Amino acid sequence: MAKTNTFPRLPSAFLISLTVIFLFSPLAGAKPTTFSRNLSPESLGLRREKLSHLHFYFHDIVSGRNPTAVRVAQARMTNTSKTGFGAVVMADDPLTVGPSPTSKLVGKAQGIYACAAQDEAGLLMVMNYVFTEGKYNGSTLSVLGRNKVFNEVREMPIVGGSGVFRFARGYAQAKTHTFDLKTGDGVVEYNVYVFHY
Ligand SMILES: *[C@@H]1O[C@H](CO)[C@@H](O)[C@H](O)[C@H]1NC(C)=O
Ligand SMILES: *[C@@H]1O[C@H](CO)[C@@H](O)[C@H](O)[C@H]1NC(C)=O
Repeated sequence: MAKTNTFPRLPSAFLISLTVIFLFSPLAGAKPTTFSRNLSPESLGLRREKLSHLHFYFHDIVSGRNPTAVRVAQARMTNTSKTGFGAVVMADDPLTVGPSPTSKLVGKAQGIYACAAQDEAGLLMVMNYVFTEGKYNGSTLSVLGRNKVFNEVREMPIVGGSGVFRFARGYAQAKTHTFDLKTGDGVVEYNVYVFHY
């Protein structure tokens, strides 16, 4: 009889100590397991926000044996649409310091542009500018905007960035430098204004 009485005590003592552990371990300074917390910008090494201006040329080559932009999808109506509505293009376009294709490479524009307007030439641009030059090497800027390609200057938002462009926000202005109506190849001058740390 004495034996059977001692057994039920063990599990209840065990349960109580488990409860104590679960209740008090977060308060006892164990590793924080919280989902969110406040912290100072300095703790991430963020001191003063800077404004940078980047200037480069974007080479969109759709013709020839080595295109840098290829159509990857379209709608049935794309062929009959006067604006190419529904066409989706994947690009890995060189960015250079000058307008010549042999000018020094500073990065690539990687992403998608698509014909998003039915009544005019209007592109949806979803792109990352990936830089390879100097302190910008490996850093990116993300562009998400509307590009009315036949306008003199088109403005697109810079919605973020990585590397030296963490917390980036700003805008890009695109101006066609040359456009070959026959081949569809284009060179576009970009001025990018961006706040970052
Ligand atoms: C659209 O036209 C191209 C050639 O101009 C053809 O290769 C393609 O199959 C056509 N697409 C559709 C969906 O009709
Ligand atoms: C950029 O970084 C990569 C990888 O770290 C390196 O291989 C490359 O040489 C760098 N390019 C320039 C232009 O500094």
